[in-house]
Amino acid sequence: MTTDALFDRWLERTTQQLQAVLPDPDATPQGLHQAMRYAALGGGKRMRPLLVYAAGHLFDADEDRLDAPAAAVELIHAYSLVHDDLPAMDDDDLRRGRATTHIAFDEATAILAGDALQTRAFELLANTGLPPALALDCLRTLASASGVAGMCGGQALDIDATGQLQSLAELERMHALKTGALIRAAVRMGALCGGAGQDDLARLDAFASALGLAFQVRDDILDIEASSEQLGKTAGKDAAQDKSTFPALLGIDGAKARLAALAGEMHDTLAPFGLRARALAALAELTIQRSH
Ligand code: IPE
Ligand code: IPE
Ligand code: MG
Ligand code: MG
Ligand code: MG
Repeated sequence: MTTDALFDRWLERTTQQLQAVLPDPDATPQGLHQAMRYAALGGGKRMRPLLVYAAGHLFDADEDRLDAPAAAVELIHAYSLVHDDLPAMDDDDLRRGRATTHIAFDEATAILAGDALQTRAFELLANTGLPPALALDCLRTLASASGVAGMCGGQALDIDATGQLQSLAELERMHALKTGALIRAAVRMGALCGGAGQDDLARLDAFASALGLAFQVRDDILDIEASSEQLGKTAGKDAAQDKSTFPALLGIDGAKARLAALAGEMHDTLAPFGLRARALAALAELTIQRSH
């Protein structure tokens, strides 16, 4: 099967799973339920669920086992975007080609929708039919990637660094936390569900760390080079808000050179897995090349 056919199947599974776990839009509180569905179902590349399936695929994991971790990490990601766009954070009005959740609904509803998407993710993982030790490992992985040692910590560093000149090491740490942590968690949960051993987990973690950094470096480059229409979100925001980014520190060519180096690193890290890792390799390629 081609990787494109695999991705189509995994995207379909992700949508089905999200549809099933999100609350009834006709039940009260309707605004909250509808905002959660709006934030989680309105498009997106679904990169993190695809990584769960692709990492599981490497170990021939049963796809039924991967559905909950895949949907759970996307719920956390969707929540992180709702909150990232709030007036108190990046203050954005465009996301995935339409109004951000706090514009389409209101700010209080968007805050609550983010909160409830987050807790739904953990509820979903806790209620899977996975063996308890595996479910616990996934819960621990996703919780730690979402909190102070992961996405939230990185977002706080992003806010603190706004208008400041960071060192390269500080910038990399910020990217590793705000974007890298969830990407690493996605890969780890997929591999855990496939029964990966410690050596393979460590190798995949090195791959996912490079991928997470590459993902945010590409995001920073696109913020400069792409249009709002192409991105489905407001272009040029980082410079307008004086955000600390790779292009701001290294220049656009320096950022692109770093991206190319990360591509090489990812390729070398996956090489020992051979063709079994072709879905992960294709996702790495998509991340480097992506135009939105
Ligand atoms: C955007 O993430 C925020 C970052 C972490 C850079 P994505 O580019 O994965 O957003 P969607 O899910 O495709 O909209
Ligand atoms: C956001 O980074 C990362 C998270 C949501 C955790 P950005 O602020 O660069 O994401 P975009 O560009 O708004 O999607
Ligand atoms: Mg931000
Ligand atoms: Mg933002
Ligand atoms: Mg950005």
